[in-house]
Order: sequence, then structure tokens, then C-alpha cells
Amino acid sequence: MNKRVKLWDRYFELFLSEEQIHERVKAIARELNKDYLGKRPIFVAVLNGSVHFASDITRFFHDKCELSFVKYTSYQGLQSTGKLQRLLGMQENIFGRHVILIEDIVDSGLTVAGICEELATFEPLSLRVATLLYKPKARIHPIKPDYVGFEIANDFVVGYGLDYNGLGRNLSEIYRSV
Ligand code: IMP
Repeated sequence: MNKRVKLWDRYFELFLSEEQIHERVKAIARELNKDYLGKRPIFVAVLNGSVHFASDITRFFHDKCELSFVKYTSYQGLQSTGKLQRLLGMQENIFGRHVILIEDIVDSGLTVAGICEELATFEPLSLRVATLLYKPKARIHPIKPDYVGFEIANDFVVGYGLDYNGLGRNLSEIYRSV
């Protein structure tokens, strides 16, 4: 039987191992190294979920870059509330810069679309999205992430930054709800 964890009232089973995650993160970093060589991009990580992904991606990015954070909220428990609320906005000037938005997961796509819309008003030279996980079947907004770690089914997942009501972010692996 797969390794399981219990968070609050729910059980989650092992879905992606630490090795699988690191392999994909390194592969995305290799693409980014190629695409952004000499461009001094600014990585904008969406808190809290993308904290591990952003940390690993930027450590595997070997040219000059910057790292910044924004924070929005739209989820409560297993459900998106559908409303995007900004808790921490952009501090850096991204006008004329190459920006890569770092997300943990693109589900309905509404969060990433809303954040991109806001960042676009600052007129970056380019704006792309890198996400560790992508649920194409849950997509409501037509936005498509540019760099994807894993396309997954419409399951609720936790670990490697992703939480269930605050728990599970510290897990090194990714688990899915059973
Ligand atoms: P979206 O707006 O529906 O694409 O949701 C994006 C945000 O919802 C992500 O940044 C996560 O914080 C959260 N989220 C979506 N799906 C999951 C999941 O399966 N587990 C944990 N958080 C999730």
C-alpha cells in the first residue's frame, strides 16, 4: 500500500516522490537557464504554496536573477472561493523586465490569470508562468502555463508547499486525497 498521511480529517496517499519532483524541477530549470541566459529575469513567487518550488528553481538557475514574492488568497479548505484578494503586492519595479511567475499549482487558472493581469499593468518586457503542477481538466480560465512540472488529474494534492487548511506544506513529497 502507498505511504499515507492524515491531515485534519482527510487521508492522502503518496503521489510524487522527492526524486520525481527534483528531476522535473531540474528539467524546468534547465529550460529557464537556456531561455533567460543574460536576461537577468525576476522570479515572482506566489506565497505560500510556491515556496519550495521557487527556492529549488532559483537555486538551479545559474545566471544572474532576482527573486520576489507576492501573496494572494482564494482558497479555503478544498474549495476555491473564486475571489482573488491581494495580501502582498509587487515591491520591485518590473517595468521593462523579464518576469517569471512561479506558482505551485494551476487549478481553475483564475489565480494565475488574475495575478498576470495585475503584473501586466506594470509593463514587464515579458511575462511567463512556471508551475509545478497543472490540472488541465479543472481549467476555467484559458490561460496556459509556459513551464509545467507535472500535468495531473483533478485531485486535491498536498506537500512540497501545498497545504490542506494550513497543514502539509512541509512534506518533501506530494500526496493526493483518497
Ligand atoms: P486556481 O485559482 O483555481 O488555479 O487555484 C490556484 C491556487 O489554489 C493555488 O495557488 C493553490 O494555492 C490552491 N490550490 C489549487 N489546487 C490545490 C490543491 O490540489 N491542493 C492545494 N492547494 C490547491
